Amino acid sequence: MRLDKFICQSTDYSKIEALALLNAQAVVVNGEFIKNGATQVHENNTITLHGEVLTPRACRYIMLHKPAGTICSNVDEHYPSVFNHLQIEYPNDLHVVGRLDADTTGLVLITDDGRWSYGITHPDKHCPKVYRVGLSRPLADDVAAKFTAGIALQGETQLTLPASLTIISPQEVLLTITQGKFHQVKRMFAAVGNRVITLHRESIGQLQLDIPEGQWRYLTVEEIQSLR
Ligand code: URA
Repeated sequence: MRLDKFICQSTDYSKIEALALLNAQAVVVNGEFIKNGATQVHENNTITLHGEVLTPRACRYIMLHKPAGTICSNVDEHYPSVFNHLQIEYPNDLHVVGRLDADTTGLVLITDDGRWSYGITHPDKHCPKVYRVGLSRPLADDVAAKFTAGIALQGETQLTLPASLTIISPQEVLLTITQGKFHQVKRMFAAVGNRVITLHRESIGQLQLDIPEGQWRYLTVEEIQSLR
């Protein structure tokens, strides 16, 4: 991870304070003064601040059931944040793994482990995300085949990766995708002449949402591993 993040995760300092400490040459990595916060460091490195060895806090892995009308970033003037539901220390260390729109409900993962979230969100990793979708009109017969072949979304040069549909009723489906483009599900249905009315993320990889709306819990070691 970046050296400035390593300092934040090992102390109570904010990023701005960590950068000031670096600038003041208070930080030594493997015997060398380092001033650049972007320097990549590893847990095997010996990193000291004012001569004291730093040890980062253990990473946290959280499932949250997002209610509608909340946003996935830390601050917004219009909507409350999902972080308001987390009564937890050091909330600024955490980020959402694959954001949902304000009106979307369901499974949100939250962590401070950037490598873990990269493995879940990067399309090359093919991690499936399942959405329950309510539609404004009955699904046309050719939509499943179009989603398998890939959809040309407005403003994108590449087709979407193959996605699969399970039909629950004419106006309710489960959609599985392995990407997370901006408003992807809504744009895919718009591209085939339909409109998403309700959107709920049920699962990510093997992990199923299993807690009531507005609640959160830590993931088990097995759940964390299953998403690596
Ligand atoms: N796709 C969307 O359009 N919105 C979401 O919130 C998630 C996926």
